[in-house]
Amino acid sequence: MHIKETLSQRIEAAFAQQELAGSAMVQVSSRPEHGDYQANGVMSAAKRAGKNPRDLAGYLLEKLSIADIASSVEVAGPGFLNIRLAPAYLATVNAAQIDQAATSQTVVVDYSAPNLAKEMHVGHLRSTIIGDCMARVLEAQGHQVIRQNHVGDWGTQFGMLVTYLNDSGASSQTLADLESFYRQSKTQFDQDQDFANRSRQAVVALQAGDPDTREAWAHFIDISMSHCQSIYQRLNVTLTPEHTQGESTYNHDLPAVIEDLEAQGLLVVSDGAQCVFLSQFKTKKGEILPVIVQKSDGGYLYATTDLAAIRYRTGTLNADRILYFTDARQALHFKQIFAVSAEAGFNRSSAQLEHMPFGAMLGADGKPFKTRAGSVVKLTELLDEAELRAAQLIKEKNSQLDPQEIQTLSRIIGIGAVKYADLSKNRTSDYLFDWDQMISFEGNTAPYLQYAYTRIQSVFTKGGIDAEALPKQTVAVDEPERLLAVSIAAFNDTLRAVSTEGYPHLLCNYLYVLATQFTRFYELCPILSSAGEIRERRLVLAHQTGCTLKAGLALLGIDVPNRM
Ligand code: ARG
Repeated sequence: MHIKETLSQRIEAAFAQQELAGSAMVQVSSRPEHGDYQANGVMSAAKRAGKNPRDLAGYLLEKLSIADIASSVEVAGPGFLNIRLAPAYLATVNAAQIDQAATSQTVVVDYSAPNLAKEMHVGHLRSTIIGDCMARVLEAQGHQVIRQNHVGDWGTQFGMLVTYLNDSGASSQTLADLESFYRQSKTQFDQDQDFANRSRQAVVALQAGDPDTREAWAHFIDISMSHCQSIYQRLNVTLTPEHTQGESTYNHDLPAVIEDLEAQGLLVVSDGAQCVFLSQFKTKKGEILPVIVQKSDGGYLYATTDLAAIRYRTGTLNADRILYFTDARQALHFKQIFAVSAEAGFNRSSAQLEHMPFGAMLGADGKPFKTRAGSVVKLTELLDEAELRAAQLIKEKNSQLDPQEIQTLSRIIGIGAVKYADLSKNRTSDYLFDWDQMISFEGNTAPYLQYAYTRIQSVFTKGGIDAEALPKQTVAVDEPERLLAVSIAAFNDTLRAVSTEGYPHLLCNYLYVLATQFTRFYELCPILSSAGEIRERRLVLAHQTGCTLKAGLALLGIDVPNRM
């Protein structure tokens, strides 16, 4: 149930009973410091109608039919409405599951998409986990999600890599460390003329579909993809091989993309390259920026492939929405391909195209996150360290655990901490990667939430209570109970905001507030030492909190342990 929407509808209905110009623009927000929710819209409506806002608010209150939802509504300040939710209403909301969207959309989520020439490094963390969270949330809401891993598996580097692979003998041993494999072949390329020439020929052969070159290329891609796949598994990311739809899969359509643009009179040759000029893209000096779709040597570009991908996703997959998760530096690229698609009629299902950019992950010094030696940090290495640090934290907290359990916990907590630290930041900004902050039981961290969850489980274990056998609903009585119920009830509003705006940090903030609210409740409202009805309703609230924490973390792709 969507509380904000329900409240706005009621308030708008009350507005509608008045003779006011224009429609009401009611905004309901969660403001626990002012009741539970606060609505505005009265002030601007009063201004438009030339009325006193407090008078209008008072009149509105008389017309407002809200007694089934709210236990009180008050006019505050210059004309805000402060709303306190009724425990009986909260009880019905909290028995609910994740709300299913009124209309299920087909949503293509384009995420992770590393360049397969190299091993996944920290730069791929954000596109992988933010995209995965979005895919999970949309799916949970009943949308048909189509994951697309638009990997970089085509282009000139592959000529070099394939040649090097052939020269060095195609053992998986040579490729165990993709990063150094890439470096070695690059060194050879720069130093050895003959090698460089053969590499260039390999690119031509690859693009012409020469079977041997294709086979060597496919072998390389296989190995690189299995590197990615093991990272996805470790990260608890839902991408599987069938979601891979790399750049190479659009190769056959690229000449047709160019022909179509040509037929529509959109192409202009500039310096020998085929370009689309759209007047909305200008340099600072006012010159129109070209979108290059074919180089003078006939080669295609990143943009050409993305245009073909839009044709496929809207023409074949029938997308209603396509979400792209890449770093913010690609913003112009996406603006351009969206605009060219619109101009050329490539968006065949009129899908909403949304680039969801993210900022960089920075080291403690505020510079891009690097190793001490200044090279890129491989994602595997980052995850190894996370598990190591988590193991230390766990041993400090509980020295009684056996090694097997420590290992399992350090995976859940270490990987969870890294993911959460990232997902909890507003994706549009850069953030400082800080081990000590994220692997801690204090603050807005995964371990804090995981610990809150285990504390709830231990209530049930200690009391020998089967949580599943409890009633599904309960009506809060004491204020800490009610505040906890208010917090639980905001889950679906939060998920809706996440899926429309694409901001996982809203879910993280929500879970953090929920856990904090639970801590307060837990201190003030004894559970197991209470009896009868009081005990039962507190158990129900504790169980609802536990379920919501677990479900919320699962949507972030973070596991919970049962004890720690
Ligand atoms: N491979 C690209 C990169 O590493 C990201 C691809 C994103 N998706 C897309 N359809 N362009 O930057």
